[in-house]
Amino acid sequence: MLEIFNNISLKPYNTFGVDVTAEQFCSITSNDDLVTVLKQNKKPLFVLSGGSNMLLTKNIEALVVHINTKGISVVKEKEYALVTAKAGENWHDFVQYCISEDLGGIENLSLIPGCVGSSPIQNIGAYGVEIKDTFVSCRALHRSTLKYKEFSNEACNFGYRDSIFKTSVKNEYIITEVTFKLTTKNHNFKTAYGAIQQELKSRNIGNITIKNIADAVINIRKSKLPDPSEIGNSGSFFKNPVISKVEFEQLQKKFPEMPFYPVSETLIKIPAGWLIDQANFKGYSYKNAGVHENQALVLINKTGKATGQEVVELSALIKQKIKTLFNIELEVEVNIF
Ligand code: EPU
Repeated sequence: MLEIFNNISLKPYNTFGVDVTAEQFCSITSNDDLVTVLKQNKKPLFVLSGGSNMLLTKNIEALVVHINTKGISVVKEKEYALVTAKAGENWHDFVQYCISEDLGGIENLSLIPGCVGSSPIQNIGAYGVEIKDTFVSCRALHRSTLKYKEFSNEACNFGYRDSIFKTSVKNEYIITEVTFKLTTKNHNFKTAYGAIQQELKSRNIGNITIKNIADAVINIRKSKLPDPSEIGNSGSFFKNPVISKVEFEQLQKKFPEMPFYPVSETLIKIPAGWLIDQANFKGYSYKNAGVHENQALVLINKTGKATGQEVVELSALIKQKIKTLFNIELEVEVNIF
């Protein structure tokens, strides 16, 4: 039965663990229920699923729709399978399911918080893989016309932590399911990332499987990133900034040990975590918020009582310092409401 509740705390529904209230709230377990709610609703809408890439700074005066649809279907071809998951499937559980079925391509994306439906919005990525590499299409419901539309990989216009759902069609659609093309044999292992190689080596793994890669990624993430069920956070708070080669060469003279990744002939990406670490923010506390002690790119709800506003204030302090020290403008990666 579809129930709409008033004045519900959203603390359990956002991984930062910020305690704000939703004026109205409902949890959707089928797409039909979603359509019914949208038809009846006259309030502004606020959609969430895993709540893992958002920072809530105030009470949400809207109908909060929690997407909780479940289901995975697999269509196997010779060399690959088309795997479709409903939006509310937990991302990591979905990855684990694929590994148990020996379906390859997303094992490097193990343990990323959030749900399948939000994965294309910011083109989630880690350890040399992004979802755009296996994404075929997604189905999405238009919030006002209530018509479904299919978005191909190309139509999504994926970029680094970016897609059409963050730009030209922002807040227009609710993604209801996503289809991936995964390998059933001859898996294409992505082990180039230094930390994965070290992890496989230290565990003496000669025979690489998708399960071994997933386990390596899980270990790396557990050692560096806080578990949101223990310490509230939204993963990387900032994007890794991309600067011109000219600016980079000047900075490199001052900071020869600065890590970097060439993006094109003229652009270089710098790890924001390194910059924030250099600015001595690692482990820093600000009111109830803080900077994680093992990965400076992750802001945390240190005491469990942080407000969104406190996290915003901390992020402003960090941005200012990075601007002064490196003349780099950090861009927030998390969605702030
Ligand atoms: N570094 C430091 N100090 C720190 C953090 C990082 O010196 O406190 C240095 C590291 O030593 C390394 C470099 O910065 O040389 C990069 O660090 P890391 O490999 O941890 O990755 P990242 O660039 O900080 C990105 C993603 C993560 C993803 C990892 C692994 C972004 C914004 N973040 O982080 O994604 O898990 O690569 O691929 O691109 C997320 O988006 O929420 C997220 C966790």
